[in-house]
Amino acid sequence: MKQFISVKDVENPKQLLEDVINLKNNEKFSTIGNNKTIGLIFFNSSLRTRMSTQKAAQNLGMQVMMINVSSDSWKLEFQDGSVMSGDSVEHIKEAAAVMGLYCDILAIRSFPSLVNKQEDYSEEILNKFIKYCKVPVVSLESATLHPLQSLADMVTIKEHQKQSKPKIVLTWAPHVKPIPQVVANSFAQWALACEHDLTITHPEGYELSEEFTNGATIEYDQQKALAEADFVYVKNWSSFTDYGKVLDVKDDWLLNEEKMKETNSAKIMHCLPVRRNLELSDELIDGENSLILAQAENRVFATQTVLKKIIENIM
Ligand code: CP
Repeated sequence: MKQFISVKDVENPKQLLEDVINLKNNEKFSTIGNNKTIGLIFFNSSLRTRMSTQKAAQNLGMQVMMINVSSDSWKLEFQDGSVMSGDSVEHIKEAAAVMGLYCDILAIRSFPSLVNKQEDYSEEILNKFIKYCKVPVVSLESATLHPLQSLADMVTIKEHQKQSKPKIVLTWAPHVKPIPQVVANSFAQWALACEHDLTITHPEGYELSEEFTNGATIEYDQQKALAEADFVYVKNWSSFTDYGKVLDVKDDWLLNEEKMKETNSAKIMHCLPVRRNLELSDELIDGENSLILAQAENRVFATQTVLKKIIENIM
């Protein structure tokens, strides 16, 4: 594997799920990463991604360097040809190149602005790191996708599915703030690449980019979508069409036990962090069908498998 920024970097997504489960069950620790260094570059906050990526790298014997760009480093300039007379101190050209000299792999977290759709969906920051750092890049969540989360989600579904083709529903959930479309885009992209039966349900105006959802069933009636579901993935996202906006929604989209009665005793999934009783009710988060902690645990093994494959490619 040369890099990991979307499912398109994976030759055989279904085989990758097998590889993660095999590593989890048989090969939790190795020395393949001895004398290799990973740089974890965070433009935004994180709990799971930060800790699971560090643990995954350490399980392979790697050294880890971590930077919170906004507080630990110089303010970066991304515009080519700009006169740097403002508050940016260092250009991405030098910063990424230097990080690439110190690290064998760079992993980057950079959220979207939710202001400029074209800029966000062109993945400007991630692509500039790829261009200038000259080492393999792993996305720790970009402006459009969260592939390590999605890989862990697919592994969690594989571990718990009882049917060969379970019905998976991705449902929009309420929130008070504009949230990126990233997790929903990525979940849809991976579920479809793994040939799952995917239904996406959301209020009108919350349609995701067809680039990621083409092949899924779109259902505006949440209760209808939930019928016979085996897995229900809960996530809020802001509008893609009215970019980054939180639209008025009249119906109650908070998922609870009552609404789940029409499902096939569906498992509940969420990537975390979750706002309890706003996005998802206590009873479902704490209930016996919740896979939320299993997803978080699988983040380690998903990332470890990806790092191992990248190391194998650069050895
Ligand atoms: N799910 C996830 O990426 O969590 P963090 O934002 O805490 O890393």
